[in-house]
Amino acid sequence: MSLFDKNEKLDVFYNLIKDEQFREYNNNIKAGVDLGTANIVFSVVDEFDNPVAGASYSASVVKDGLVVDYIGAIEIVRNLKSKVEKILGREIKYASTAIPPGTLNGNVKAIANVLEAADIEVVSIVDEPTAAAAVLGITDGAVVDVGGGTTGVSILKDGKVLYTADEPTGGTHMSLVIAGNYNISFEEAEKIKKDPNREKDNFLLVKPVIEKMAHIVKRHLEGYDVKKIYVVGGACSFSEFENVFKKVIGIETIKPSRPLLVTPLGIAVSCIK
Ligand SMILES: Nc1ncnc2c1ncn2[C@@H]1O[C@H](COP(=O)(O)OP(=O)(O)OP(=O)(O)O)[C@@H](O)[C@H]1O
Ligand SMILES: [Mg+2]
Repeated sequence: MSLFDKNEKLDVFYNLIKDEQFREYNNNIKAGVDLGTANIVFSVVDEFDNPVAGASYSASVVKDGLVVDYIGAIEIVRNLKSKVEKILGREIKYASTAIPPGTLNGNVKAIANVLEAADIEVVSIVDEPTAAAAVLGITDGAVVDVGGGTTGVSILKDGKVLYTADEPTGGTHMSLVIAGNYNISFEEAEKIKKDPNREKDNFLLVKPVIEKMAHIVKRHLEGYDVKKIYVVGGACSFSEFENVFKKVIGIETIKPSRPLLVTPLGIAVSCIK
């Protein structure tokens, strides 16, 4: 039985990762590995999709669904797996993973190979928006995943993905704007961008980037009957992000709690043998 509503679920998952704890569960577990451009996340849920445990690591071993550092990626997945196994006190043998829509076959194989090389049997490879929609419990509307390097747009109707697109914009773009403004390195800009005490100044700097993203998304939605947009992914963390989208696109825009964890949790939810 599902114990939480979707925002509670994401908050519980966030705290489990932060505190390196697990939640009591019965019977079977399902696992997921998100190989993102900015973050690699290992997620575990119970058979009713309640969060059980997780671990996350910031790395740039994958770029927009392309493995750019194969050895590094394997090492990180291996470490995250053993970290979660330690927290749980049991072995994890299989997991699902996900790819951005439109990933080419050869690259899908490379993603699967990373898991297999880390001793994980790959149960399924889902597409990211479908994973996100599974956590959000939606069958209709648009899911916009604003990650590090890319922004994925997916339109769902009756639980089916009707349309997908991937645009080369995301949080990296925001950091570049901040770096340029203060004349600092990208790494320093990343830190400043995530400093909650600087949110007001940061938002003023990145607002034009968000507006540009919204215009791009708007173009993709043209001709589709979309009543709600759900924004996920780390780069939509800014508190006013969804309001900019709503203003530019003119469609109600909803941001769940912990947008960074929606797709990762959804990958574990989608781990069905
Ligand atoms: N608190 C925050 N405020 C603003 N941006 C943030 C915050 N936390 C994370 N980000 C940004 O979110 C991005 C990472 O998001 P996410 O983990 O969803 O991406 P990813 O899945 O690794 O990448 P992709 O989906 O593009 O492959 C980074 O650009 C990061 O700087
Ligand atoms: Mg992502």
